Amino acid sequence: MVPAGLKPWQQACEATLRERSRADALRFWGRAHEGPEGPEPPFDYRFEHTQAVVRLARWLCPQVGADPEVVECAAWLHDLCKRLGDPGGKDTHARDAAEALPDVLEGTDFPESKRGAVRHAILHHVGLSLSHRLEPLETACLWDADKLSKLGAASLAHFSCISGAFQPVDTAGILARGERWIGLAEGITASMNTPPAQEEARRRLAFLKLHYGQLRREWANPMEEALP
Ligand SMILES: [Fe+2]
Ligand SMILES: [Fe+2]
Repeated sequence: MVPAGLKPWQQACEATLRERSRADALRFWGRAHEGPEGPEPPFDYRFEHTQAVVRLARWLCPQVGADPEVVECAAWLHDLCKRLGDPGGKDTHARDAAEALPDVLEGTDFPESKRGAVRHAILHHVGLSLSHRLEPLETACLWDADKLSKLGAASLAHFSCISGAFQPVDTAGILARGERWIGLAEGITASMNTPPAQEEARRRLAFLKLHYGQLRREWANPMEEALP
């Protein structure tokens, strides 16, 4: 079901992403729930992550004056070719997505003149830290939206749903992994390109620290010391 009010290019991006991510999630999980529209994976990480990036792109662009069509299109498609559980794909998924771009947008109303900017943003979205601010602004905004999606409450929900599919998990392991992630999250926060993203990243980082601090208090410390 395509949401009403979306332009043809938005519908094409969403439908292509949904189809590919669902197929990949079904392959990855190896099991499915029976949904009203057919088999559904236990969790479609790629689609959920991408939705978060699109929401963030729509939030960020008007604040900084970036072209919203370029950034949203890049947000929909930036991880289109990334496969769950495929470490080799991490290296090429940006290039693969950039190459898939013409086919996805073929016959849609997405402006021809903006496709190069979408391609540039997709090609430069990878990595968890930056040594310099990205340009142009639309490329910077995709990086910021993608990395903001890895911080905060939604990122915890997504991690909780997917992590057990990769390996056995327990609460102590989630805490250890989360505390390691805080260090990387600090690097992500320091790398944000735009002021609104910097501010939001700081807010989300503070939330993550609170969350894992509380988890440590509940789980890793002796209860009689940790709780009043
Ligand atoms: Fe990516
Ligand atoms: Fe991403």
